[in-house]
Amino acid sequence: MILAMTGKGGVGKTTLSALVINWLVAQGETPILAVDADSNANLHEALGVDFAATVGGIREDAREQAKSLNGVSKQQFLELRVQESLIERNGYDLIVMGRPEGRGCYCFANNVLRDVLDRLAQNYRHIVIDSEAGLEHISRRTLLSVDKLIMVSDCSVRGIHTTSRISALADEVKLDVKERGLIVNRVPNGELPPIVRREAEATGLHLLATIPLDPNITALDAEGSAFSAIPQDAPAKLAIEAMLEGMFAALEEKH
Ligand SMILES: Nc1ncnc2c1ncn2[C@@H]1O[C@H](COP(=O)(O)OP(=O)(O)OP(=O)(O)O)[C@@H](O)[C@H]1O
Ligand SMILES: [Mg+2]
Repeated sequence: MILAMTGKGGVGKTTLSALVINWLVAQGETPILAVDADSNANLHEALGVDFAATVGGIREDAREQAKSLNGVSKQQFLELRVQESLIERNGYDLIVMGRPEGRGCYCFANNVLRDVLDRLAQNYRHIVIDSEAGLEHISRRTLLSVDKLIMVSDCSVRGIHTTSRISALADEVKLDVKERGLIVNRVPNGELPPIVRREAEATGLHLLATIPLDPNITALDAEGSAFSAIPQDAPAKLAIEAMLEGMFAALEEKH
């Protein structure tokens, strides 16, 4: 399953991506590729790992060396370097995309990279993509094909409106998406206020989960700890688990 978290800034995409990855690892739904597609990379912190290289940096190097490499060896160069840049952890690998665009032309490197990433993706059972805030990655179609496009909103009418815009834009650019769904995050007491619920229903998006505002997350975030340290009975963790269990049950039914 390829799952991407989108939504406006600060709604919880990275936090929820980390919780999803942790759950998949705990279930043995491995190997997983965790993709940090935010140019301001921070999924590694939520997962509690370090990274050294970004795909953007590798592409930059390849562009520098383009003069001395022909097409084939450039592809091999990129492939090797991308492999090397993977941070391997128990059950998952993390890849950090880094800065999307610098100066100069990246068309060739981008095309080669897309092939490299497509091939890489085939080695994994699940891929979880933590994307950048806003709509640009959708309009530029930097997300590859996605099984579940998850639009995350905070508990506000404005947040929900952004998810509608993302969904409409995904249609407009004909993004290759099998299913999409809505998560409302940071909900006080886990209870959606009626006005937010109405707006959420009006989007026509499937409401996958309502994630409570969870002091356990606030505490871990404040001390910079990884979310793997969240207590078993933390309300946000339980809500994510219920959502994923539902998703997997639906998948099983289909097969
Ligand atoms: N369910 C929750 N309960 C309490 N705090 C939360 C919850 N979800 C996220 N947060 C907090 O909200 C803030 C934003 O979360 P996060 O960084 O995951 O959002 P984001 O959408 O990835 O942001 P950005 O757009 O900057 O990438 C963080 O301080 C995080 O700890
Ligand atoms: Mg983030």
